[in-house]
Amino acid sequence: MRVAIAADHGGYALKEQMKNVLKELNMEVHDFGTDSEQSVDYPDYGIKVAEGVAKGDFDRGILICGTGLGMSIVANKVPGVRCAVVHDCFSAKATREHNDTNVLAMGARVIGPGLAEEIVRIWLTTEFAGGRHEQRLDKIRLIEEKYGQEEGVRGC
Ligand code: RB5
Repeated sequence: MRVAIAADHGGYALKEQMKNVLKELNMEVHDFGTDSEQSVDYPDYGIKVAEGVAKGDFDRGILICGTGLGMSIVANKVPGVRCAVVHDCFSAKATREHNDTNVLAMGARVIGPGLAEEIVRIWLTTEFAGGRHEQRLDKIRLIEEKYGQEEGVRGC
């Protein structure tokens, strides 16, 4: 699985730790930065992962900032991206089974590395359940179309 990862300064340290977890899981990892704890703007990093996933360059994306919130807002602006902020194991499983999320956002100021690692492992290994959940994703796609995003990044 090809996984893109990025963080702002608030998530930099946790990103480095999660890269090791991804490598242990034999994932192909692409790191879009940032590369230090020097202050940066999270949209500049979130968009790279979101567009990469939407274009199909990566199967999944992982975004880390202080709270996970800013990164998730950015990622969900990109058509085709379904991003969830996850800080517990139940939600990590549920958002894969129910929402087929392709981007995971976490807040390094909210959870520690042990829980983040567990969340990443669960999120990457849980399959979408399909069935009744598929029609709900179809409705999300209709909302994207309604707001003129039907071409998405793929069509650019
Ligand atoms: C940076 O201070 C902080 O605002 C950012 O990491 C993130 O939490 C935004 O949502």
